[in-house]
Amino acid sequence: MPRSRERFADAIAELIGPALDRVERIFDNELRSDLPSVDALVRHVGRFRGKMLRPTLLLLTGRAVEPNGEVDESLIELAAVVEMVHMSTLVHDDVLDEAELRRKGATINHLHGNEAAVLLGDYLISHSYHLCSGVEAPPELSANWAARIIGRTTNQLCEGELLQVSHRGNLELSEETYYEIIRRKTGALTAASCLLGARFAGADDELGRAMQRYGELIGMAFQVQDDVLDLLGDVREVGKSVGVDAEKQKLTLPLIHFLANAPEEHAELLRSLLVGDQLDRAEQVRQLVRPSDSVEFARDEARRLTCEAAACLEGLDDSPAHDLLTAVCDFVVARSA
Ligand code: IPE
Ligand code: IPE
Ligand code: MG
Ligand code: MG
Repeated sequence: MPRSRERFADAIAELIGPALDRVERIFDNELRSDLPSVDALVRHVGRFRGKMLRPTLLLLTGRAVEPNGEVDESLIELAAVVEMVHMSTLVHDDVLDEAELRRKGATINHLHGNEAAVLLGDYLISHSYHLCSGVEAPPELSANWAARIIGRTTNQLCEGELLQVSHRGNLELSEETYYEIIRRKTGALTAASCLLGARFAGADDELGRAMQRYGELIGMAFQVQDDVLDLLGDVREVGKSVGVDAEKQKLTLPLIHFLANAPEEHAELLRSLLVGDQLDRAEQVRQLVRPSDSVEFARDEARRLTCEAAACLEGLDDSPAHDLLTAVCDFVVARSA
């Protein structure tokens, strides 16, 4: 791990480490079941933690808005809610993608089949709404404000995934539609995380909207980099199945750019790989696209999104949390896992 990334992780742990531990405890308590078969699935989910990006964004935003306040219990609960929503989408997404590896462990669908995975995803989303409905809102917000935000967010998330499925195998997919897909399927939840963190820490409507936009742009940049990692990453480092996007004929930014800009015979080769049924499709796509400038194009686009995100932070006072939200911009595009 490069030194700067270690420092970033240490700074996060120092500022919000104990709060993140509380998030994990609430997450695990909420999901517990008296049925051993259900509890076994839940424990699997609890054993393989991810990067906790969404709770981190929510808590950092809260701290950046109110640097000197105590971390309120409602912020901790909301951070558990957004991680639970995220986890539910991952469990379902792994069914769609027929993925076998997630967070360096076997996926639920791989271990227990699609039926258990679909139902566990439902269990997770159901618990996220249950937990959210009990979160106490500050007096300036209505009692159901967070529940409405979470509901709207999961609507958008489903729309993003549905839009993506409807464009599977579409070799004409435009950049515009690609951005629309990732804004909804990934940007919506990171946007909601920052909006909730901001408003529950006392931000007014204007600052809340700036933080929401920051989160949306961070989520989109994160997904662009995720798509680059799916194309080029090493499965041992990324920790989840890679090559899935090409396998499932999902066009991502490097491929969209390649089809529009590579020499015609290369573009034609990519088209034939994407529609053909050869077993090593993902590997061949990787070999073809890696030497082109389409990967750098996608990375530049991710950096452009994070520059725009950083500009949304202007309304915040200086604080360690503000610095870390700025550092998140670099983290999402530089990450290799
Ligand atoms: C994976 O999200 C799904 C995408 C939006 C790309 P993360 O990469 O944040 O997953 P975990 O939570 O760290 O496993
Ligand atoms: C789906 O995107 C992310 C969601 C919002 C569920 P991906 O399919 O790229 O996510 P990974 O790569 O499997 O984590
Ligand atoms: Mg996937
Ligand atoms: Mg991916």
